Amino acid sequence: MARTLIAGNWKMNGLMAALDEVRAVNQALEGYPDKADCLICPPATLIKPMADVAGDRLAVGGQYCHPKASGAHTGDISAGMIADAGASYVIVGHSERRADHGERDVDVQAQAMAALASDLTPIVCCGESLEQRKAGQTIDVVRSQLEGSLPQGLADGAFFVVAYEPIWAIGTGEVASTEQIDEVHNDIRAFLTGAYGDAGTNTPILYGGSMKPGNAAEILSVPHVNGGLIGGASLKAADFMAIYAAAVS
Ligand code: PGA
Repeated sequence: MARTLIAGNWKMNGLMAALDEVRAVNQALEGYPDKADCLICPPATLIKPMADVAGDRLAVGGQYCHPKASGAHTGDISAGMIADAGASYVIVGHSERRADHGERDVDVQAQAMAALASDLTPIVCCGESLEQRKAGQTIDVVRSQLEGSLPQGLADGAFFVVAYEPIWAIGTGEVASTEQIDEVHNDIRAFLTGAYGDAGTNTPILYGGSMKPGNAAEILSVPHVNGGLIGGASLKAADFMAIYAAAVS
């Protein structure tokens, strides 16, 4: 059974002052049972300062890593650098990276494998566009993204997370229905157990896309939803912790 993970994706938001939110998250976590993992993925500039103030119950992650360990790649950041700064997770293949930087499945897979090689847990994102959903292609699109993006040749005990994020639900306020989420998460679980056997039952499958305090409990009650990847509602500790509360209640 996969352990629940409530993960915040701050995207390109947050200056040093935002560390106050992290202190508030630390404090709030003490009031909840340790039944779900909690993670914030800030911009790269905040990984180290956030890791320095994060308490035992809060993990820190990156939002992208380059497939290579080092070299002539101006502006990029490697998995080893992210780990060295104190992160334990990294998001790879977010739809915004796929759209803004032309990242293909093969790139995302190389990033996920670089993450594992640096002892980071990759959170591999997938999800269909509105056009693909309307054309009835959702399951095929997600399957093909997973086939192309998930790490290969896993060492024993290697661990990763999958995030299903329908593109049309990200940052739009429009959330997928529980039926839509159920269908896709079920299929992702079937794919994972088919590809990885028993280990596939332990892989957390997160939902992402306009998750907020008001809809978290309902979404988290869907079978095979093992947490959330939360953008906008993760920026304020109160909202983020309300979602965490729904996960542990
Ligand atoms: P959102 O973003 O919660 O603001 O919709 C989710 C994500 O992109 O990870």
